[in-house]
Amino acid sequence: MAQTTRIARLNITDAADLAACVNTAFAHEHTDVDRTQTERLLALQAHHVAGAFGTDGLNGFCDSFETRSGSTSRWEIDLLGVVPSARGRRLARMLVHDSVTEAKHRGLSVARALVRHDNYAAQAVFSALHFSKSDLRALWVAEPHSPRTHAADVKAICISVTTLTYAGIWIEDPQNAAALELARGLSQDSTHVIGAVLPAESDAGRWAERAGYQRVDLYHWWTLSI
Ligand SMILES: CC(C)(COP(=O)(O)OP(=O)(O)OC[C@H]1O[C@@H](n2cnc3c(N)ncnc32)[C@H](O)[C@@H]1OP(=O)(O)O)[C@@H](O)C(=O)NCCC(=O)NCCS
Repeated sequence: MAQTTRIARLNITDAADLAACVNTAFAHEHTDVDRTQTERLLALQAHHVAGAFGTDGLNGFCDSFETRSGSTSRWEIDLLGVVPSARGRRLARMLVHDSVTEAKHRGLSVARALVRHDNYAAQAVFSALHFSKSDLRALWVAEPHSPRTHAADVKAICISVTTLTYAGIWIEDPQNAAALELARGLSQDSTHVIGAVLPAESDAGRWAERAGYQRVDLYHWWTLSI
């Protein structure tokens, strides 16, 4: 019999179910989120965390939030997951549709998601909802570190983020190597992640490598004008 699905915004009482759902959906990445983390995230009003409920409970989730870059605001569809037993029933599509609807209510005009280049199921979801795919980007990450440079002309946009799986800083549009180096000094918290999404083949990638960042993988931005 076909299961009915209800998409609803999650609240603090869903914290334990959300942690279990994240860990099941991302078991292949050995993700280990605990209830304290999901409680902390669900308390953040800036986030819209929605769940897909079936008769057997929470089967999927999507966390989204707004970021600003200069005068531009974007809706970040940050983490989307469906448990393996419920995949292929368009739950992800419903969750992304719900997220875009929330972005519209908040008056935002751009939504985007970063999807790994070989994640064909996620790509099918964003493509079906008319998102456009960017060229290839590389994700670079580093841990906080006291900077060795004090250059005066450091330019980059630094965005402090809390997500379901980590907290840290996103660096956008670094204009020189020193920007990536200095960004690592913006947090003193050793659990934080400093991340930069850079054009796949670029000087910025070489700067990131020199500044001690590790390349994670190749991705595309999927963007929708709303
Ligand atoms: C990606 C994910 C959220 C999709 O969830 P889902 O509820 O199964 O997605 P939907 O049913 O809405 O849509 C999946 C689409 O991908 C298609 N698909 C699945 N595997 C595919 C593959 N290997 N190649 C091409 N298309 C594929 C399905 O046919 C479906 O398209 P259709 O509805 O047009 O037939 C789920 O697979 C998941 O949680 N994966 C692990 C976590 C993850 O990768 N999250 C996304 C990070 S951006």
